[in-house]
Amino acid sequence: MPRIALIPGDGIGPEVIREAARLLHRVGELGGAELELDWWDLGADRYLRDGVTLSDEDFEALSTGYDAILLGALGDARVPQQVHARDILLGLRTRLDLYVNYRPSRLLHPSLTPLKEVPPEGIHLEIFRENTEGPYLNLGGRLRPNTPHEVAIQEDVNSWLGVERIIRAAFEHGSRYGRKVTLVDKANALPSAGALWRRAFQAVGDDFPDVERDALYVDAMALELVRRPGRYQVVVTSNLFGDILSDLAAGVTGGLGVAPSANIHPGGHALFEPVHGSAPDIVGTGQANPLAAIRCCSLLLEHLGYREWATAVEDVVIRSLEAQITTPDLGGRFDTEAVGKWIAGELTGPAGSDLTLPLSEPEGGQHG
Ligand code: NAD
Ligand code: IPM
Ligand code: MN
Repeated sequence: MPRIALIPGDGIGPEVIREAARLLHRVGELGGAELELDWWDLGADRYLRDGVTLSDEDFEALSTGYDAILLGALGDARVPQQVHARDILLGLRTRLDLYVNYRPSRLLHPSLTPLKEVPPEGIHLEIFRENTEGPYLNLGGRLRPNTPHEVAIQEDVNSWLGVERIIRAAFEHGSRYGRKVTLVDKANALPSAGALWRRAFQAVGDDFPDVERDALYVDAMALELVRRPGRYQVVVTSNLFGDILSDLAAGVTGGLGVAPSANIHPGGHALFEPVHGSAPDIVGTGQANPLAAIRCCSLLLEHLGYREWATAVEDVVIRSLEAQITTPDLGGRFDTEAVGKWIAGELTGPAGSDLTLPLSEPEGGQHG
């Protein structure tokens, strides 16, 4: 039986992961994936209580004992510099070498976009965010800290191997699903990193002559995402640009409340988490939208080979939007638990949907 580590984390993390777990239980009851769910107490409370962010034993157990990890959110104003979030979230991303941060933004219902018009082709962006390098490695330091002469250096790390492998993952995906791949960088102002990314994009792209490709600067892409997002399909970019653009892409397709993500080492470990954070402004109010966490379950089920159940979860999410069983961020009057219970209650077995799901092989790999 696949084992899943649940890390609810901070703020609204526990509120949305509770609904994700409810859904996963329901999948098991309906005869789909039977999953063993293990709850992990990692986050700000534990850090403030015990001074532990992620111990070596925790890391060892998480990296050897589970088929996947599902995480809520990490971030708490009581913790200086969010040291716990860096150790746990960024720590798991880098230590498990989860180099693909896959962030899909699909417009599930026309009412979700704040754009004046829904593009005729719809919106279905899939961001492949490099997840182990860039300024996130925290190389650099501070000179003369806390003085007017302070200098802070935060190096942007771009290795050939790191860049090549995320671009390759994007092209493999583009090739499998017949989708265009767009490189997003800032090669005009940051030419060293830009040269490496463009050379890798060219080299890998040449291995995929069937895949259409283009490139945009990140500032232009930010504009395009609000102007004509329907033009873009697979977007491959660096860690920091991917972080920023994935919030923007979420913004034109329903907001952070609906945006899931998968952190993956292809063929290896996987960690699923909503794109959103701990949302301290709404914690405890029942306003947290559980859809992002629930859609993470869809990505997780697909990753484990339960493709039809993954589709069934996306389908029931769409039905909840059609029925307007939504939280206030989507204009509804339901709370987190009401939405989660409705979705779990309405979930039915695989119904032969024609949705295309992103993470698995188009053929085979199906368990249930
Ligand atoms: P945030 O994503 O927590 O919140 C941004 C805005 O979106 C807020 O107004 C919030 O109420 C709203 N929002 C977020 N999720 C929502 C949901 N499910 N339903 C309804 N509304 C939702 O971003 P922030 O405020 O910049 O960060 C808060 C904390 O979370 C910080 O400590 C930050 O570092 C952390 N954070 C963690 C993650 C993560 O764990 N993956 C991601 C982003 C931010
Ligand atoms: C995200 C978050 C994290 C990131 C933060 C909490 C470190 O914003 O997952 O998008 O920047 O990757
Ligand atoms: Mn982010």
